[in-house]
Amino acid sequence: MTAETLAQWMRQSHSTVVLTGAGMSTESGIPDFRSQSGWWQNIDPRAVASTESLQNNYELFREFYQMRMQALEHCVPHTGHHILADFEKRGLVSLIATQNVDQFHQQAGSKAVAELHGNIVTMRCQKCSKPHSKQQFQKNAVCTYCSGKLRPNVVLFGETLPSDAWNLALNEIQHANIVIVIGTSLEVYPVNQLPLIAKGRLVSINLESSNDNGQFDLVIEGAAGGVLAELDQALEGYKKK
Ligand code: APR
Ligand code: ZN
Repeated sequence: MTAETLAQWMRQSHSTVVLTGAGMSTESGIPDFRSQSGWWQNIDPRAVASTESLQNNYELFREFYQMRMQALEHCVPHTGHHILADFEKRGLVSLIATQNVDQFHQQAGSKAVAELHGNIVTMRCQKCSKPHSKQQFQKNAVCTYCSGKLRPNVVLFGETLPSDAWNLALNEIQHANIVIVIGTSLEVYPVNQLPLIAKGRLVSINLESSNDNGQFDLVIEGAAGGVLAELDQALEGYKKK
């Protein structure tokens, strides 16, 4: 059972939703969080990516996100992102719900993207929520309106997910014929509940096989870019619209 099986299922599917995590961007050079080389191997997320760190340790908070923004500037979406954008154009994928904050899916051309954990590309004031530029955040400026702290529009630990993105993902996944989960350890609540509410077929594309593979109808072990290229080949010339 491989990419060919998934291709067959996708030809018959009226609605296929993709749920991505940090493993979708590692081939672009962006570390994930919980693999050997992941961010959380030597940084405590609560110390740099939580509402407490924003309140009580702003300098460390800002340095962490400044570093991640700089890393992004030297990286681009890989073929896997472009294949998913092409699948959307051909009516093969109806939504990408992503935990990633790099906006690589949008940069690759995907239009229907639900950013479940926000993004680190746009900024706002923590106090009055007015938008600000990345440059102002990187220069350690304060809000031009109320002198509040600036922060990226990422969902921090301790914050709720954006309701519009969450409701869109929830609704689409509930009605999808197939949900393809790519490059996520499914360790973080509430996104890790989404595969459980899927009523259609559940597929995993992941580098490591996780211990709760039992929930999946199809598990394809491998790198996202390589597996998506195989899937693209199996679906060559096929489109629904
Ligand atoms: N192809 C496929 N899978 C990959 C690849 C790849 N090239 N590289 C890594 N992976 C897999 C890893 O084996 C791991 O199972 O992707 C998964 C990444 O898991 P995490 O690092 O936990 O990332 P993610 O699941 O997206 O984390 C969820 O945690 O810290 C928060 O907000 C952060 O959105 C993030 C959330
Ligand atoms: Zn402000």
